[in-house]
Parts: sequence; structure tokens; C-alpha cells
Amino acid sequence: MKINDLTITSHKEIAKDIYEMKLTGEALQMPLPGQFVHVKVGRGTDPLLRRPISVCDTEGQSFTMLYRAEGKGTTQLSKEQAGQRVNVLGPLGNGFPTDSISPGETALLVGGGIGVPPLYYLSKTLQAKGVNVIHVLGFQTKDVVFYKEEFTKLGPTYVATVDGTEGTKGFVTDVIVSEDLSFDALYSCGPTPMLKALEQQYGNQRMYLSLEERMGCGIGACFACVCRTQADPNGVDYRKVCSDGPVFPAGEVAL
Ligand SMILES: Cc1cc2nc3c(=O)[nH]c(=O)nc-3n(C[C@H](O)[C@H](O)[C@H](O)COP(=O)(O)OP(=O)(O)OC[C@H]3O[C@@H](n4cnc5c(N)ncnc54)[C@H](O)[C@@H]3O)c2cc1C
Ligand code: FES
Repeated sequence: MKINDLTITSHKEIAKDIYEMKLTGEALQMPLPGQFVHVKVGRGTDPLLRRPISVCDTEGQSFTMLYRAEGKGTTQLSKEQAGQRVNVLGPLGNGFPTDSISPGETALLVGGGIGVPPLYYLSKTLQAKGVNVIHVLGFQTKDVVFYKEEFTKLGPTYVATVDGTEGTKGFVTDVIVSEDLSFDALYSCGPTPMLKALEQQYGNQRMYLSLEERMGCGIGACFACVCRTQADPNGVDYRKVCSDGPVFPAGEVAL
């Protein structure tokens, strides 16, 4: 883990309020798929807390992140221009366990909304290893769909929108059933209700879930991101999403 001042090489809106930022800089340690960076927004103390953003792709000394401009910090970040510098702490967290699937097996990657970005780097990594990848990407509506072509280049890609304006009308879980998708391992990132639905239906299979919890420090020191475990839902056993996660095997944390 390192703090780096990275230079923005490209920054653009790729769907409604969804931005793609490419950054480059010296000695960015190679991240694992599913790891994230903790981004300092602006140059002052407001906002004070960094924002956790997943690594969406890497190439040499550069990496790509995709984010949705919604709150104070990400809206401020969206105003940055190519050539400016962004202070980034990372890579952080544990990442998806890519060793748990073998070449020739099939991985089903299921993303919801702004949980989709880390699955792109995961898919590239798995595909390079000889794993068959299938993607199911869920969004609210057509205007916020992104990276469909990029995923399609790696493997079969199904899109679901809640309002039916693109792809299948409904949720990612509807697509898995209607397309009768079978798989050896399932990897997912997205809103908690989606992860919960997937866990209820497929939790007895090889399955890994990435959580997007509110964070403070990002390095295990402040306890802002703790989740209770399923084994001890009312007790004292917990996991820190920033340092024990953000990826957990199905059944470990209480969603
Ligand atoms: C591992 C991980 C990966 C993520 N990857 C992505 C990604 O690739 N793309 C993306 O768009 N989003 C991603 N997110 C979500 C993203 O971090 C949040 O959407 C973002 O922090 C919101 O910031 P904001 O400035 O838009 O919102 P604001 O509402 O201005 O700020 C939210 C921030 O306030 C602080 N905060 C607010 N309430 C609390 C609280 N109760 N406890 C502690 N802190 C609080 C936190 O720093 C929080 O990040 C990820 C989150 C995690 C945990
Ligand atoms: S964010 Fe501080 S312990 Fe996880």
C-alpha cells in the first residue's frame, strides 16, 4: 500500500453521471482484481475523508476507475481535468480470489450499478487465465448503462434494466433464470439487496461477494466499515470491509 500523486491522463462522462478517469504515475503497486483505492478529493481538508473507488482496469503504470458523481466528494472529483493530479492511497483490500477457479471452468460475474467496475478487471484476469466468463450487468435504466461493449469483447454479456429500456426488464437474478445460466463460481459486486438475493439462491455454490460499505480510514484503523458475521449476527464477531474485505465468500458476513 502506498500514497501516490497520480496524473489524470483522461477523464470523461461515459453515461449519465458516470465518469471514467485514467490515472498514471510512478510506482503504483499492481492491484489485484477487486482491490480498491482511497481517493483524496481536492487539495484542501474539505472533504476530509477519502472516497473508496474500485480498480476497473490497469495497464503498466496506469489504471482506470469508473465512478458515479452523486455526493459532495464524487461531484467535486468530476470537475478535475486531464493533466491535474489526484492523491491516491492503495491498492487496498483483499480482492477476488482468482485462484479458486481453474482454466476451462465458467465464472459468472454479476454486477449491479456502480458495482460493475471491479468486475471488468476481474473478467480480464480470469479470461487471460483460460476461464470462461459470462457477465450479467444490472442497471436502473438505459441512460446509466456503461462498458457493455468492453465486457462483450471478453465473453457473453447480458444486461438487465429495472425499467426495461435496455436488455431484459427486471433484475440480474431474472436474467440468470431466464437464460438458464450455469457456472462453476459466481463473483458479484453491487447493492446489498442484490448480493442478498444472489446469496439466497446460489449461496451453496462457490461464490464471492464484494461489499460497498461506508468507509473512513480504509486501512483497518477506525472501525467505520465493520459488518457482523452470519455465524454471530448479534454478538461480537465482525469483519472490517476495508481490510478483511471488501470481498467475502458467501455466508461469511451478515448482509
Ligand atoms: C470497496 C469499495 C469500492 C467502491 N467502488 C466504487 C466504484 O468503483 N465507483 C463508485 O462510483 N463508487 C464506488 N464505491 C462507492 C463510493 O465509495 C461511494 O459512492 C462514495 O464514497 C460516495 O462519495 P460521495 O462523495 O459521492 O458521497 P458523500 O455522501 O458526499 O460522501 C460519502 C462519504 O462520506 C463519508 N460518510 C458518510 N456517512 C458516513 C458514515 N455513516 N460512516 C462513515 N463515513 C461516512 C464516507 O467517506 C463516504 O464515502 C465503492 C465503495 C467501496 C467501499
Ligand atoms: S474504514 Fe476504517 S476500519 Fe475500515
